[in-house]
Amino acid sequence: MWGTELGGGLRLRLLERHHAETLFALTDRNRDHLRPWLPWVDGVRSVADSLAFIEDALGRFARGTGYELGIWEGEELVGVVGVRGIHSPTDFTADTSIGYWLDAGHQGRGIMTRAVTAVLDDLFLTRRLHRVEIRVAPENHRSRAIPERLGFRMEGRLREVARYGEGWGDLLIYAILDREWQTARERVREQFFRGEKVGPDASPGSPL
Ligand SMILES: CC(C)(COP(=O)(O)OP(=O)(O)OC[C@H]1O[C@@H](n2cnc3c(N)ncnc32)[C@H](O)[C@@H]1OP(=O)(O)O)[C@@H](O)C(=O)NCCC(=O)NCCS
Repeated sequence: MWGTELGGGLRLRLLERHHAETLFALTDRNRDHLRPWLPWVDGVRSVADSLAFIEDALGRFARGTGYELGIWEGEELVGVVGVRGIHSPTDFTADTSIGYWLDAGHQGRGIMTRAVTAVLDDLFLTRRLHRVEIRVAPENHRSRAIPERLGFRMEGRLREVARYGEGWGDLLIYAILDREWQTARERVREQFFRGEKVGPDASPGSPL
C-alpha cells in the first residue's frame, strides 16, 4: 500500500478505486463546509463522479504528474490532500501545487498541517522538486494558516482566476523553495508534531 504514517493513528494512503463510495459519502456530508472554497463540490453528484476523480488521480500518479492521498484516522477517511502538475527536476520549471480539504468535524487538530508536511517531504526530498505552491482564496483564513505555518511566502494575488458559481474570485499564491523547506522542516516538526491534539505517539511521517 503506497502511503505514509503521520503518527497519532493518522496515515496518508493513495486513493484507489475501491475508496470511491467512502470518498463520495465524505464529500456529500461536507458540501456546505466545502462549497465556499471548493466549488467543484456541486459537480460531484454520485459515486461515479468520485470514481472518475480517483481514476484521473491514479493516471496522474502513474505518469508521475501528481497524486491524491486519502487522510485516514484509523479506518475512517477524514480528508484528501493532492498534488497536480508535477514538473520533474529535468523540466525547465520543477514545481507543483498542493490542494487539500478536511472533514468539518476533524478541523482544528493540526491534521492538515501534518499531512501537507509529509507531502512536502515527498516533493522536495524524494522527487527533488524546487518549488511548491498553494493557492488560497484571500478570505479562507483557515487554509491560509497552513502555508503560513509551514514557512511559505505569499508572493502575490491572481485576479479572478477561480470560478465560484457565476462569478470569479481572486487567489493568493503561497510558495516555498527546496532550500527554504530544508530550513523550515525542523522547526515545523519541533513546533507542530508534538501537538497533543493529534496524538500522544506522534512521530514524523516518512517520505511517501
Ligand atoms: C483548510 C482546512 C483543511 C484547514 O483545516 P484545519 O483543521 O484548520 O487545519 P489543520 O489541520 O492544519 O489544523 C490547524 C488548527 O489545529 C490546531 N492545532 C492543534 N494541534 C496542532 C498541531 N499539532 N499542529 C498544527 N495545528 C494544530 C491549530 O491551532 C489550528 O487551530 P485553529 O484553526 O483553531 O487556529 C479545512 O478548514 C478545510 O478543509 N476547509 C474547507 C476546504 C478548504 O478550504 N480547502 C483548502 C482550499 S485552498
